[in-house]
This record gives sequence, C-alpha cells and structure tokens, in this order.
Amino acid sequence: MFGTKIKAVIVWLLFFYACGAAHAKMPCAQALAKLDRLIQSNTFEVRRDIYHYTELFPQTFIEQLASLKKEDHWIDAGSGEGFAVEDLANKTVLDSPSLLQQMEPTFRKPRRVKVNSEALRAAADKLNGKDTSEKPQITAVTVKMERTPPQMEKVKFKTGRYFEDIPNEEFSPGDMITDLYGVMSYSPKVDEVLRKYHRILKMNGRAYIFIGDYVPASRVNSFFRVLQVGESGWDAPFAKSQVKRKDGSTVTLLDWVLSLKGFKASVQHREVEAASWGHASTGPILRSTLVLEKVTRDFDIPNLRLVHTTEGKPPVRTFEEVFE
Ligand SMILES: C[S@@+](CC[C@H](N)C(=O)[O-])C[C@H]1O[C@@H](n2cnc3c(N)ncnc32)[C@H](O)[C@@H]1O
Repeated sequence: MFGTKIKAVIVWLLFFYACGAAHAKMPCAQALAKLDRLIQSNTFEVRRDIYHYTELFPQTFIEQLASLKKEDHWIDAGSGEGFAVEDLANKTVLDSPSLLQQMEPTFRKPRRVKVNSEALRAAADKLNGKDTSEKPQITAVTVKMERTPPQMEKVKFKTGRYFEDIPNEEFSPGDMITDLYGVMSYSPKVDEVLRKYHRILKMNGRAYIFIGDYVPASRVNSFFRVLQVGESGWDAPFAKSQVKRKDGSTVTLLDWVLSLKGFKASVQHREVEAASWGHASTGPILRSTLVLEKVTRDFDIPNLRLVHTTEGKPPVRTFEEVFE
C-alpha cells in the first residue's frame, strides 16, 4: 500500500520533471515519444491519390495545381506512398467524368460532394493537356514510404527524415504546399513547420493544410464540433488541439494559426451533403482546409512547446507559447 503510494509520487514527479515547469522550453518527453511512435508506426491512410486530394481539398487547390507552369514547384508535405504526386505524371491526370461520378452518393458512401463541375472539368482539361516537359517540379516529403520511390522526371522524393530536420536550402522555392493529414497534423513542432512553410514558399505561394470535417456553429453548441460521420469518421484535430498563450489565455490551434501575421489565412471548404438515405446528419458538412498565403518576406512566429498529445490519428495536441 505504502509502496504503491511512493510509486505514484515518483511517477508524478517524473511527469512533472519531463512535462512541467522544470523544462520550460523542452517539449514534454512522453508526448514527443508518443508522436514519434505514431508516425513511425505508419498505420494511417498513406495511399490517397490525386482524386482524393481533389475531393478533399477546396476547389482552389486543383485550379492552382492546373495553373502551375514548368518552372513552378509543388511540395507535398507528408506524402505517404506518393500516389497523388505520381498521378501528376500520368497522361490523363484527372478523368473528370469519373471524378464527378465518385462525388455522387453510393450505398457505401451515402454523401454527395458538392462541386463546380464546369470549373473541375476546365482544371482537368488543363492538366491533361500538358506534356511532361510543361508540368511543374514536385517534391514529396515523408518520414516513411513502404514502396520504393518511383523514378520520375519531375518528382523528387525526400524520405526517411522529418520535414522539420531538412534544411531549407534543400528546397527550391515553392508555389504550393499540400499537407493532407501530413506534417502539420502530426508534428510536435508546428511553430517550426509553419516557419519553414513560410520560408520555402514564394511570395503569394500557398500552403493547403487539411483540417477535417466540420458542421457550422449554428447547428451545435460550440464554435465548431467534430463530426464523426465522414466515410472513416474523421476527427478534427485542429479545432480540438489547443495553444496556451503567454498571456494565459487558451485558443484552439486553428485560431492560433489564423491569428499569425505573415500569412493571409483563411479556411476554405468543400461542402458535403448527406444522401437522403444516409446517416442522421441534418445538414451539410464543411470539409475544411486551412489555406495560408505568404504575404510578407519576414515573419515572427512565437515558439511553442508540446505539452501533451493523444494517440489519435491525427492526434489532439496541447502546446504552450514559450519565451526565447
Ligand atoms: C496520414 S499520412 C497521409 C499521407 C498522404 N498525404 C495521404 O493522404 O495519403 C501522414 C504522412 O505524413 C508523414 N509525416 C508525418 N509527420 C511528418 C514529418 N514531421 N515529416 C515528414 N513526414 C511526416 C507520414 O510519414 C505519412 O507519410
């Protein structure tokens, strides 16, 4: 009994030593180890192709991708098995009739993804009409990739390293970064990742960071609520993750990023309706992406320290701002 109490005190002290004020600038060691295990396990969806990227990201993604020229650069941060970037090398990058078909409800997917079909067809035609030499440069970054990276003229794979550890100089300036449940969703150092996104983007370049499915505030009690009715029950980690500011206030990670200077930040959506025979949802789901456009040369982002994380896929994390 007495021994159990002592053990509990020791565990608490160790926790405090690793995660509390004793190491005010260091990330919590347990939380760090948890995220590392999660990423190394690689047991999440890593095989999304260009169809999934088009369906999940807002319309502006595919329009921007279609407008990239041969001297431009797309960086996929957290590219998994790299199927989306590989697809860009295909002669037919996007078969728009088949994509439009996929957006319609089926028995297994009782939902309709609302889409501007004219604009989608126009973007697909633009992409499909390009010769390989006219396509942009692509860099795909992932810690883990199970298959051997395909050898492709325009695509470079950077595997085996954390994005945060790759020197900025290794990236040629980017026009577009995509992050589909990638680096920002799993990193213990989101402040560093954002600094890097800002640094490696060209002026007016954009980062598309997928943040999950939401329902608008009017239909629920709080600002946004996680909706567990997506095809795989997606979580909304950016609205649940939190940042404790230096002034003692606490905001969601989403609000913290939206408030940063240096990016013009917005949340863009694809609307998803439940089919009439579908689940109990009473209105559209907003499939949401944080779009960050670089609008300044320099940019001060407060330093963050990881305090806690769950093991969700993606995880819900807690950070706090720390002094230099
Ligand atoms: C959930 S998967 C998504 C993969 C891909 N975007 C897709 O939709 O199929 C997350 C990917 O991000 C990678 N990843 C997560 N954190 C990373 C980091 N800090 N640096 C580099 N890659 C990271 C993982 O290795 C994995 O490939």
